[in-house]
Amino acid sequence: MIKINNISKKFFIKNNEVQALNKINLIIEEKDCFAVVGESGSGKTTLANIILGVYQQDKGDLWFNEEQLHKTRNLQQRKLIQYVQQNPMSTLNPKKTIFSTISLPLRIHKIVKKNELEERVKQLLSYVGMEPEFMVRYPDTLSGGQKQRVAIARALAAEPKVLILDEPTSALDVIVQSKVLNLLLKIKMEFNLTYIFITHDLSVVRNIANKVVVMKKGIIEEFGETKKVFLNPQSIYTKELINAIPTVLDKEDMLKPK
Ligand SMILES: Nc1ncnc2c1ncn2[C@@H]1O[C@H](COP(=O)(O)OP(=O)(O)OP(=O)(O)O)[C@@H](O)[C@H]1O
Ligand SMILES: [Mg+2]
Repeated sequence: MIKINNISKKFFIKNNEVQALNKINLIIEEKDCFAVVGESGSGKTTLANIILGVYQQDKGDLWFNEEQLHKTRNLQQRKLIQYVQQNPMSTLNPKKTIFSTISLPLRIHKIVKKNELEERVKQLLSYVGMEPEFMVRYPDTLSGGQKQRVAIARALAAEPKVLILDEPTSALDVIVQSKVLNLLLKIKMEFNLTYIFITHDLSVVRNIANKVVVMKKGIIEEFGETKKVFLNPQSIYTKELINAIPTVLDKEDMLKPK
């Protein structure tokens, strides 16, 4: 369980200040597929970065089960929570082969012995639907979907409990999007993972998330079980978001809040 306790974060740029997060309280339970939605600039990535220990919050505290997480993390704490970003190139080093990229977390976290590295990298590649031949390739020789699969394999290598997915499919075309999404769902089941899933795509939220938080300008606009929020949104902003989802079936249209 991740407990986010009254967390605030301000940024200062020249003479401007931005309250990126303002007194955020959330509980993310084990095995949740916890969706974070909200307009651009609402604080979603900032929240992810605080959970990951990339940024230090100004106020509030963060817990993983009974353990408080500070910005400086020990190896075990770093292993727990892994990140998949929108643009895989921000996590894949263009100068490193796929083998070297995926084996790095295996070595850092001492997941397998040295002579088992190659076998483990092959296994991780196969989890994400890629052939072992990809090990010797460099990221810029891969398609967008393949790069994102490698980024997912790299995140899985550390054997985390939680994956933070920050718009993991939005840089991909529609067909590849649904393939990567299905892969993520399969992996979640197989490894009993908790997902914190940041997305702009509310139809994805409706299909895969059990809980959803709607953020706006650094505050929580609405939070609840996805079904309840979709059937009976409380805030005007959430209603607007839901009404903006393109629907395919009349039946789906009837579910929209009036
Ligand atoms: N490192 C930073 N320095 C200064 N300001 C920042 C920094 N990171 C984020 N901000 C500001 O904080 C606010 C929240 O940004 P954040 O990236 O969390 O939004 P977001 O919800 O992830 O948006 P998007 O959907 O566009 O990715 C924005 O106003 C942004 O400009
Ligand atoms: Mg963002």
